[in-house]
Amino acid sequence: MGYGTRKDIAGLARTGGIVFDQGEILDASIRIPVSADLPRRMTVAGKPLDPPAGLVVMMNKPLGVTCSHKEAGELVYDRLPARWRRRKPAISTIGRLDKQTTGLLLLTDDGDLLHRISSPRSRLSKTYHVTLARPLDGTETALFASGRLTLRGDDKPLAPAVLEIISETEALITVTEGRYHQVRRMFAAAGNFVEALRRERLGDLRLHDTLAPGRWKLLNKEEIALVFR
Ligand code: URA
Repeated sequence: MGYGTRKDIAGLARTGGIVFDQGEILDASIRIPVSADLPRRMTVAGKPLDPPAGLVVMMNKPLGVTCSHKEAGELVYDRLPARWRRRKPAISTIGRLDKQTTGLLLLTDDGDLLHRISSPRSRLSKTYHVTLARPLDGTETALFASGRLTLRGDDKPLAPAVLEIISETEALITVTEGRYHQVRRMFAAAGNFVEALRRERLGDLRLHDTLAPGRWKLLNKEEIALVFR
């Protein structure tokens, strides 16, 4: 879980830094089964144990931060506790948002879940709030819904997408694919330019209103299930 080497942990245990059900675990060779309630029953250096493997994080991705493990500049992983970088299995983003896109981003160490959500075959709906440089001209809803729009450089048309107009320069768009820069390229194809893009929903899971940009929280099973609804 990234807390340290076996030697580090043995040292921490010897000095009373690992407490389970109020008792110090002085010998690091003692085995305690992993369970969901472990973070409530165990503290490490006085703090609740991190969540065990199988965690899902909802982050409100801020502007200018990259969904990558190794690119230059600020990364989404920098927003999580530093030791989480050393966890095995590793934590990864479920799909990616562009550096200039904000909003709902999930991260997990559960490979099956990652695949179930991000596989192109899953066809899960993703809803984005779009702010445009120019007023909508009224043709976009039909164009995006047509299933006949082929973006420059692609060889297949896009699946139908749903546009809900909020104002002349603001809309919600729901897509079921995850092509490269998809939403920006769709509006470019319609002669417009996306000035701001924020993901609001994945399936029926909404970005929690109370989560400020850059903040994150762990999701429970019921919340994760909303993605598939
Ligand atoms: N479409 C985009 O253009 N960018 C994103 O980050 C997500 C969808």
